[in-house]
Amino acid sequence: MAKFTSQQLQQWGLSPQSLPRHVAIVMDGNGRWAQEKGRPRTFGHRAGTERLREIIRFSSDAGIGALTLYAFSTENWRRPEEEKSVLFSLLVEYFSKEIDELHENNVRITIFGEKDPFPQKVCQALVRAEERTRDNTGLRLNIALNYGSRAEICRAVRLCCEESAKTGAYPGDEAFEQHLYSAGQPELDLLIRTGGEQRLSNFLLYQAAYAELYFTPVFWPDFTREEYILALQAFQKRARRFGGL
Ligand code: IPE
Ligand code: IPE
Ligand code: MG
Repeated sequence: MAKFTSQQLQQWGLSPQSLPRHVAIVMDGNGRWAQEKGRPRTFGHRAGTERLREIIRFSSDAGIGALTLYAFSTENWRRPEEEKSVLFSLLVEYFSKEIDELHENNVRITIFGEKDPFPQKVCQALVRAEERTRDNTGLRLNIALNYGSRAEICRAVRLCCEESAKTGAYPGDEAFEQHLYSAGQPELDLLIRTGGEQRLSNFLLYQAAYAELYFTPVFWPDFTREEYILALQAFQKRARRFGGL
């Protein structure tokens, strides 16, 4: 439920009627942010985690339906062991610190990606967060972890095949979408990538079909609420045609 009034949104230059229903963010640039400061990459990951609260809170208060955050890709397993282990500890720390407030704010957490390959402590924290917030009706907060769009699509195809072997019926588009992690969630309207790269890096390839893309050179740890508002303003200026005129 939106907490901000229409007047508040208008003061930030946002029209309350045309906010994106679903925003996704590739939270990139933590390592370079730290390196610019002469600090280790993991210092950037910690600073990045501290950004989350403000962006999640704003999305929830603005009444955005869903927010999907790319936190660890299927390709990020290629990172050095030491960096991964810091990332995993930060995840556990994040959930233990933030879960109460997220739950109080009626946020429902869903993990996009297979949890099993993560260390047990991480898996437990993720499962607990999902279970605890399962019945919440506010912002859908999706955290993409060990997520890759190709793996998600292959998984959906496999599940469709299994079903069709059982029923003998040919599954349609809807059946396919029901097997994506985003099943039942609002259409992706806006995809933001921080950190200057202009690529999707295997994120939401199917869901982004008609999403507006917003790339900013700002590194994730510097992506403040003001930067987020700039992205939302840019989104509201786009002419969306969906193939029509
Ligand atoms: C994004 O920041 C976080 C993860 C991929 C886990 P990076 O770690 O990719 O930071 P850069 O892109 O190297 O600066
Ligand atoms: C994408 O960032 C993944 C996340 C932000 C979690 P990367 O830093 O892994 O992407 P590439 O390697 O630059 O494409
Ligand atoms: Mg990166």
